[in-house]
Amino acid sequence: MDQNALKQMVGQEAVKYVEDGMIVGLGSGSTVQYMVDALGKRVQEEQMDIVCVATSNKTEDQARALGMTVKSIDEVDQIDLTIDGADEISKDFNGIKGGGAAHLWEKIVAINSRRNMWIVDESKMVDQLGAFPLPLEVIPFGSSHVFEKLEQLGFHPEFRMRDGKHVLTDSKNYLIDLHLGKIDHPETLAKQLDSMVGVVEHGLFLGIVDLVIVGTQHGVKTVK
Ligand code: 5RP
Repeated sequence: MDQNALKQMVGQEAVKYVEDGMIVGLGSGSTVQYMVDALGKRVQEEQMDIVCVATSNKTEDQARALGMTVKSIDEVDQIDLTIDGADEISKDFNGIKGGGAAHLWEKIVAINSRRNMWIVDESKMVDQLGAFPLPLEVIPFGSSHVFEKLEQLGFHPEFRMRDGKHVLTDSKNYLIDLHLGKIDHPETLAKQLDSMVGVVEHGLFLGIVDLVIVGTQHGVKTVK
């Protein structure tokens, strides 16, 4: 099975956890795209009554196109279950997210969810976080100074660019990816980044996930 088949497999597995009447958080990325397809199919076939909260404009468009009800996070009190992808998950179930530029909205939805599920193919399970560049969402104003500070700290920052232009998040902010190689102390790093003026949010998701579904060559594995 190739990586896309694994992503599809976990996407289909994840929607089995959705129950009628739930408020469901929808993550972002290619794995989530498969999950939203599967959820749209279930909702239609079983006439389910669910409300979705999306973590990106792209996911919202997909869910609406499939006929699902989408509300903004500010229109709901709490989300029952959020299903999202991840870029890396360590053995202690911390994660890096934001490869798809959506980690700010993803984190807001995650912390307002009763339960969080991540769905990944097996390549995302790692011993230690950090091989995947850690995304930061930064305010454009003063971002070159934030960049300099990150450089001085030895974090090897790189603005995320496409066709010579800054990639913009759905909140119209810039992204800086930190090429750290490995992250020995995620909690310490998270605190340091939390305290930097101009950094809106980093992609370290620590102690957030309740359930991880991994797609392997031997089938689906639930590892938390
Ligand atoms: C977007 C994310 C995604 O969940 C993450 O990048 C995984 O994406 P994919 O399923 O395409 O590998 O955090 O900000």
